[in-house]
Amino acid sequence: MIQDRDLYLMAKEALKNAYAPFSKFTVGAALLSETGEVFTGVNVENSSLGATICAERTAFVKAVSEGKRKFSAIAVVSGEGAVLPCGICRQFMFEFGDDLRIITGDDADHLKVYTIKELLPEGFRLTT
Ligand code: THU
Repeated sequence: MIQDRDLYLMAKEALKNAYAPFSKFTVGAALLSETGEVFTGVNVENSSLGATICAERTAFVKAVSEGKRKFSAIAVVSGEGAVLPCGICRQFMFEFGDDLRIITGDDADHLKVYTIKELLPEGFRLTT
């Protein structure tokens, strides 16, 4: 069973692969599926700055494209410590459920945990 601390440390390890030559703000994420798999992600910037993708969305895109749709938690950390997901990432994550836990912190002994509902109380969803 993967604990919050483990997930945080996986995000921190992933951080090393962040591609952030423009902002120099590196971010790593580790997303835990309900079936216990972990998908990591990093921010990947681009010369066309708007084409940049955040670490959280990288992790989600990897997982969804591998057939996962249900997630329990995502850890996210920047090279400078704790970081909270941007608005686009909040909406992106909200698509996949109301109960996702978001873990961050300056280090593994000082974790902060939020739910997606706390970070995005009234998210948008098309009724399908
Ligand atoms: N970024 C993320 O990857 N995740 C966040 O939660 C916040 C922002 C990235 C996007 C960009 O590459 C850099 O951080 C600065 O905004």
